[in-house]
Amino acid sequence: MLVRLIYASRAAAPMNAEELATLMKGARSYNAHAGITGVLVYSDGIFLQLIEGGRDAINALYKRIVCDERHHHVTLLSYDELAERRFAGWAMGQANLSRLNPGILLKYSERAQLDPFGMSANAVLALFDELVATAVIACPG
Ligand SMILES: Cc1cc2nc3c(=O)[nH]c(=O)nc-3n(C[C@H](O)[C@H](O)[C@H](O)COP(=O)(O)O)c2cc1C
Repeated sequence: MLVRLIYASRAAAPMNAEELATLMKGARSYNAHAGITGVLVYSDGIFLQLIEGGRDAINALYKRIVCDERHHHVTLLSYDELAERRFAGWAMGQANLSRLNPGILLKYSERAQLDPFGMSANAVLALFDELVATAVIACPG
């Protein structure tokens, strides 16, 4: 049975490109092995991640993620059963918000700045759909 989990968190310290690349590399290798797919957004010290996969696999990964000291205030935004995956092609895609039209953020948030803590789960999901539609997600290797 497939589930989708979305959470937001705050980075313990600002992440540079190298630290983010290390995080993504580890995530992709583990996720590919565990049958987990999804997208991670990092912008201005805020993480927003969508993970989808088998219920046991997602619950186990979320437990590890919550304990990770690279971030805090890990806040569950949504947890749903899924008929099908949205991100089947991505072991962990990375969305680059600097390539995103600020109008898209304004469409779903109060300001043109990523603030998932102040967004409804539906708005966050719609934002993920826009990220896919506007092709700002990359998944090297
Ligand atoms: C924002 C964020 C997102 C993460 N996403 C994933 C992920 O999708 N898959 C993964 O295996 N690890 C991810 N991690 C890393 C895990 O938290 C953890 O460090 C990793 O699974 C190794 O766990 P272990 O030290 O308990 O073996 C993420 C960490 C952070 C801070």
